[in-house]
Amino acid sequence: MLEDITASLISPDWVPDPSFNLPPIRLGVMASGSGSNFEAIAQAIADQHLNAKICVLIYNNPGAKVSARAARRDIPAILLNHREFESRDALDREIVKTLQNYEVEWVIMAGWMRIVTPILINAFPNRILNIHPSLLPSFKGAHAVEQALAAGVKITGCTVHYVVPEVDSGAIVMQAAVPVLPGDTPETLHNRIHLQEYRIFPRAIGLAAVQQAQAGEK
Ligand code: GRF
Repeated sequence: MLEDITASLISPDWVPDPSFNLPPIRLGVMASGSGSNFEAIAQAIADQHLNAKICVLIYNNPGAKVSARAARRDIPAILLNHREFESRDALDREIVKTLQNYEVEWVIMAGWMRIVTPILINAFPNRILNIHPSLLPSFKGAHAVEQALAAGVKITGCTVHYVVPEVDSGAIVMQAAVPVLPGDTPETLHNRIHLQEYRIFPRAIGLAAVQQAQAGEK
């Protein structure tokens, strides 16, 4: 029953239009940890639900599980350890260089736990998407799931949005609603949110790319 409820609460309810054929979108994914969203995007591409190619993964934590996921799929994985850079700007300059080397068109922040600077944002204007585990604009920041529990909301969710200098604040592309259940812990709730993230992130990437291509044609 609950699965049925959550399944209907994705907005916008977009599916790719086969009559609108873009060349595969060249993605660069940035991730810090487990990378289950990275995996979901890669799988959506393999299943031909998203017409894209992950050209490179950038990760910042040595040993992050996401790097093994990339290796299993033969996707180049570049470690840019923020601890080895003198400033956020210096890290972002290297990120931009790496993304450009791989001729990336769209930057996908899939659990990238660092604040990014205008150096990165301006290098890919309106071409950077992030996923956040709440229904923005509620519960911005690094502890969104805990905040939702503490606030006692009965519905939370996840949001794919454009990245702008202010954290978790850019235009919203797609959201999914997720119920908060009695007895939820941050872990059980985050697991439920994750399942919806895997559904909306690949769709939102496709939607954003199609919208921009259509806007460019006008
Ligand atoms: C996701 O919940 C995402 O919303 C947040 O970080 C988490 C990353 O999870 N920004 P994973 O690394 O994709 O498993």
